[in-house]
Order: sequence, then structure tokens, then C-alpha cells
Amino acid sequence: MKKVLLLGSGELGKELVISLKRLGCHVRACDSYDNAPAQQVTDSRSVINMLDGEQVMKEILDYNPDLIVPEIEAIRTEVLIEAEEKGFTVIPSARAVNLTMNRDHIRDRAYELGLKTAKFEYAESLNDLKDVSKKIGFPLVIKPVMSSSGKGQSLVSDKVNIEKAWDYAVSGMRGDRKRVIAEEFIDFDYEITLLTIKQRNAPTIFCKSIGHYQERGDYQFSWQPSQASEKIEKKAQDMAKIITNDLGGVGVFGVEFFIQGDEVVFSELSPRPHDTGLVTLFTQSLSEFDLHARAILGYPIYQNFFEKKGASHVVLANSEKDDFIFKGLELAMKEPQVDVRVFGKPTTRKYRRMAVVLGPNVDTVKKAAGSIKII
Ligand SMILES: Nc1ncnc2c1ncn2[C@@H]1O[C@H](COP(=O)(O)OP(=O)(O)O)[C@@H](O)[C@H]1O
Ligand SMILES: [Mg+2]
Repeated sequence: MKKVLLLGSGELGKELVISLKRLGCHVRACDSYDNAPAQQVTDSRSVINMLDGEQVMKEILDYNPDLIVPEIEAIRTEVLIEAEEKGFTVIPSARAVNLTMNRDHIRDRAYELGLKTAKFEYAESLNDLKDVSKKIGFPLVIKPVMSSSGKGQSLVSDKVNIEKAWDYAVSGMRGDRKRVIAEEFIDFDYEITLLTIKQRNAPTIFCKSIGHYQERGDYQFSWQPSQASEKIEKKAQDMAKIITNDLGGVGVFGVEFFIQGDEVVFSELSPRPHDTGLVTLFTQSLSEFDLHARAILGYPIYQNFFEKKGASHVVLANSEKDDFIFKGLELAMKEPQVDVRVFGKPTTRKYRRMAVVLGPNVDTVKKAAGSIKII
């Protein structure tokens, strides 16, 4: 039986654990708080601070896993490199995890590999940022180099608001590097995630691209397939292959692109299943979690796992609570073909993602999600 150590126990981890358990794995799930979603379905759990290298290494040595699977970005990644040197297997690879947790590292790599991106510059102070804004022009997207889910990100339309954006980025940044990326705003027609599956002894394959809509830098709903033409899909696949080949390792990668006319602009990449890919729980006979499980365990993946079009919509909390109930679940499930996944997070806070609604199209999941209230 393969032993898997999951670092991070959110909703994506929970679905991955279910896929791994179905294939007979033993899983230990770690998070900074107890009873996190993935921990509710594992054999064992640990509450540790994953930014503390010593605690992570202690956990690895204690559990002695066949596979170490990071589920979040906020991990002391030097430890993963050390673990790999000791002979442990990190998914997809310690290098991939290390590069992608820093927006500047992965963006520099994409640039070196010749992928088209938005114009970008870095800044390490407010003054730097002012200079950079003159180079790129407005509107400008500012993000801390270490952050996720839109934290510290803002769109700046003119120089009056630069200081506010700098302060906001500094307040939302993780880690000890005071550095932001300033990007040209791409007025895209739509954006996609291309789930890319790197396999050990088989070619790289792709899911049909997923369209998604974001607010505050956080995904609200997604649909699959996206409206991308075959030509655009092929362009995105070629770009995804270049960057995932460079990163190496095995597993599912969520490669994000902006589509503007015929242009395909690389944005960023997750070396793991992607939140917008929750839709594959509805659309594919092998979800992105099943695909990740098979790829990391080295099992074959059959073709034609795409079954039917569909959509997903998040259910967000609107305030901070540790005692709450879900209202309207039965109303949501009255909608045709609608299914709901409640993550089981023990507390809420404003905009925290608590559940996802799956269904046949965006209108239906939007309506169903709208009838769920967390009170
Ligand atoms: N340069 C840009 N132009 C237009 N929109 C952007 C740009 N950068 C980010 N966004 C919007 O913000 C979202 C989140 O940004 P992203 O870089 O993916 O950060 P995160 O790591 O938090 O997901 C994107 O999906 C997109 O909707
Ligand atoms: Mg993103």
C-alpha cells in the first residue's frame, strides 16, 4: 500500500484523498488547524505549521511516505528539496513546487522559455513601483510575488492609487521578500485553465480547457469546455507542454492563460489540481483528482474521459462564524442535475469558500449557488 503525505488539507486535497483512497493508498493529511476538509477523510492527520521547516521534516521522517504531495503554496519549500535529496519523492517535483510558489521565478522561467506573457516588471519599494508604472503604463495589475487566491492583488488605474496598491500588496504578501510584480492589464475576452497531465511512462495529455470567471482574484464559476477554438486550444497545449516539461515530475498542472482574439497569453501555473477544475467532478469520468492520483501513482490513464459539458459555482461565506448552518441546500439540489460538495470547514470568514455547486451549465449553477446561504 502506498503511503501519501498530503501537505495542506483543503477542499482540493479532500477530493484528492478520496481518489487516492479508492486506489488503496494510506494517506496522512497535514494542516495548520485540526479537522480541515481533507483530514476528515484520511487515515491519519497532523496539525503542523508548514512554514516551519523543522516541523515539516519531522513529519516526513516520522511518516516515511512514498509520495509527498503539496496541496498549498505556503510550505517551507527548501525542506522539500532536502527531502528529495534524501530520496523521498515530491509531487510533481521539489523544483516545480519551489519555482511556482514565487510568481517572479515562474514568470522569469516562462519568459526565458519564450512564452508570451503580459508585460511585467518587479518592484521592491514604492519608489521602484512608481518607476515601473511609467514603463508599463496604466491600468496596472499589482501582486505580491508570494501570495495566492488574489491576496494583496489590485488593479491600479492611475498614479494616484499606486501607494494604496503598494500598501495592500505588502499587507497581503507571504514570506519575507518585500517584492511585487507589476503587470500590464490584459483586457482578455475570457481566461482558461488548461489541466495538463504529465505521466511517468506515457505522453503528456490534456483536459478540455476550462473557462472561468474571477472576482477579487478568486474564482467564482467555471465551465468546461471553454469557448476556445481548436486553434487556440492547440496553442495553449503547446505552451503548457513547454513549461511543464521544463518543470518536470508527474501529476496534474493547472496552466492559466488569458485569451484575447487569437492571442494566447500565459499567466501562471499550479503544480497540482486547480480550483477551477472542480468542474471536472461533473464533466469527466476521471476528475482532475482521479487523474492526479493515477499520474502520481504511475497508473495508466484511458482516453476520452471527458463525458459531458458542465459548470461549477462557489458558495462563499459572508462573515466570520464558528457556529453556522447551510440553508437552502435542498432548494439548490432541486435544480436539474445539480450536485453540491460541502467542504466541511469548521469556521467561516468573509469570502471563504465553503462549498461548490456542480451542474450542467453556468446559469443553473449560479441559480443553485444563489439559493444556498450560510447563516
Ligand atoms: N495581467 C492581468 N491582466 C488582467 N487580469 C489579470 C492579470 N493578472 C491577474 N488577473 C486576474 O486576476 C486573477 C488572479 O490572478 P493570478 O495571477 O492567477 O493570481 P492567483 O495566484 O491569486 O490565482 C486572474 O485569474 C485574472 O482574472
Ligand atoms: Mg490564478
